[in-house]
Amino acid sequence: MTLTVGVLASGRGSNLQAILEACARPDFPARVAIVISDRERAAALERARAAGVEPLWLNPKDFTDRETYDRTLVQALQSRGVELVCQAGWMRILSPAYVRAFAGRALNIHPSLLPAFPGLHPHRQVLDYGAKVSGATVHFVDEEVDAGPIVLQAAVPVEAADTEETLAARVLVAEHRLYPEAIRLFAEGRLRIEGRRVIVLPEA
Ligand code: GRF
Repeated sequence: MTLTVGVLASGRGSNLQAILEACARPDFPARVAIVISDRERAAALERARAAGVEPLWLNPKDFTDRETYDRTLVQALQSRGVELVCQAGWMRILSPAYVRAFAGRALNIHPSLLPAFPGLHPHRQVLDYGAKVSGATVHFVDEEVDAGPIVLQAAVPVEAADTEETLAARVLVAEHRLYPEAIRLFAEGRLRIEGRRVIVLPEA
């Protein structure tokens, strides 16, 4: 069985690219059916096109409020048979209606070791705080920002000479490995949410 994935991406789309490349492998149990962006010029839409995946730009200006935007978003995903949504650099707050529609079936990636340094500019927060380790987190989406049950994490060192850019680049390497791995585990039915915990079941 192949899992149908939808990706939400506002920008560059390097995580999307890692997901697309994983899905292109014959033994990978998922495929991307649609990539949705809130930004017309998002490179993510170009990457989707190049991979033969349907790109969809949903312009926030065409909607009166967040609820109607999100209803259209949910409808677009559902009508393509999306079983798992992956937010990959998605910069809009999503309403409870979206979260409910995809409860336990939406993932997000954040470039820090949550619950440390959620929200905007995590690498700047890490450097300002003086943390020696950072990393990446893939988690289920709930109604709080960067807060749902954690699926996978990877740590990377913070070097004394790091800038936001060098740290971001090091974390990104971990992100590109982690996101496809989380999708694979979900597709194989190996993730069980128990309260705040995600149990990763052994391979069948
Ligand atoms: C990534 O660092 C992701 O963790 C964060 O935004 C960045 C998106 O990068 N949420 P890209 O668009 O996937 O290249």
